[in-house]
Amino acid sequence: NKVHVILSGGSGSRLWPLSKKSRTKQYIPLFDKKNLFEITLDNNQKFCDEILVVGNIDNYELSLSALQENVTNTYQVIVEALSKNTAAAIAFAALSLEEDDFMLVTPSDHVIEDEKAYEKALNEAFDFAEKDYLVTFGIQPTKPETGYGYIQSEGSNVVAFHEKPNKDTAKSFVEAGNYLWNSGIFCFKAKTYLEELSAFRPDILEACKSVMNLKQTDFLDAVESKKIPSESIDYAVMEHSKKIKVVKGTFEWSDLGSFEALFDYFSSKNAYVQDSNLVIAETAHVELHGLENTMVIQSGEAILVMPIEQSQEVKKIYQRLLKTN
Ligand code: GDD
Ligand code: MG
Repeated sequence: NKVHVILSGGSGSRLWPLSKKSRTKQYIPLFDKKNLFEITLDNNQKFCDEILVVGNIDNYELSLSALQENVTNTYQVIVEALSKNTAAAIAFAALSLEEDDFMLVTPSDHVIEDEKAYEKALNEAFDFAEKDYLVTFGIQPTKPETGYGYIQSEGSNVVAFHEKPNKDTAKSFVEAGNYLWNSGIFCFKAKTYLEELSAFRPDILEACKSVMNLKQTDFLDAVESKKIPSESIDYAVMEHSKKIKVVKGTFEWSDLGSFEALFDYFSSKNAYVQDSNLVIAETAHVELHGLENTMVIQSGEAILVMPIEQSQEVKKIYQRLLKTN
């Protein structure tokens, strides 16, 4: 079976006040009433037989209602007690499937456009996955972004995988030409992932197994989960594995992880953008005069106004609010 595994963690800090603990960014209805989680379901449902969501308690109800409303495939949900990053989240999914099941692992905070190109990439990926490779989807980089992983490639062969380089290294990667961004979408058989995790991080695998052995409902055990080392699939497996293939995606791919990314994305859609400003207001009517490159974000009682280019600072504001409230 082909299983669409949706990772839905996240703390909701970078898109505050639209995102918050009770509604992380995947569930903000920004796209004609739809949210990113629903868009992720729409994008992948036709290419897979089943859906498996690995998420947390804060977004459990939101995930279930999105699944009930949008999905005809069978689905299940695994609810983590603690966020232990993606190496563990993907291990939980792999351990609950048959070893020969194909996993198409996607984040839930991205937009993909151009279905034909996406389908072509998926077909290539499933072919490599059949041959026991871990498959990543590479995107042509357009700037020296430091928040992404970089795949050094020769055709579909991967020379090396570098997660989150510093600015100078990222610049040299983009200039070199043979590096692709890691889209954060992966495809492999359950057993291939478990074998590679066992080779490079047996500690994570064993800790995840102990948790899954106790599993009786959708909810994972909190006490046992504490023992899981927190690491991403990128650092735990992708930087070390020799069994990786990359499929170059020619589809449009946007990681909507910050307000700056939302601004770039919506600028091309003529939505939420007034001149050079980003305005997303849930209930307020907003008028701007004489401002440039500014964002005004309103949700409930909260209003955030700041320069768009500083949108990485929103995380710090959110953390300060958590401490004072
Ligand atoms: N269930 C679950 N549990 N999901 C999680 C957890 C967790 O503990 N931690 C993260 N996720 C989910 C996030 O919600 C997101 O959908 C996805 O896993 C990736 O996690 P991020 O935290 O957003 O990773 P990143 O953006 O720093 O980096 C990854 O994505 C980049 C592209 O967007 C890496 O794969 C990079 O290499 C990649 O370039
Ligand atoms: Mg991300």
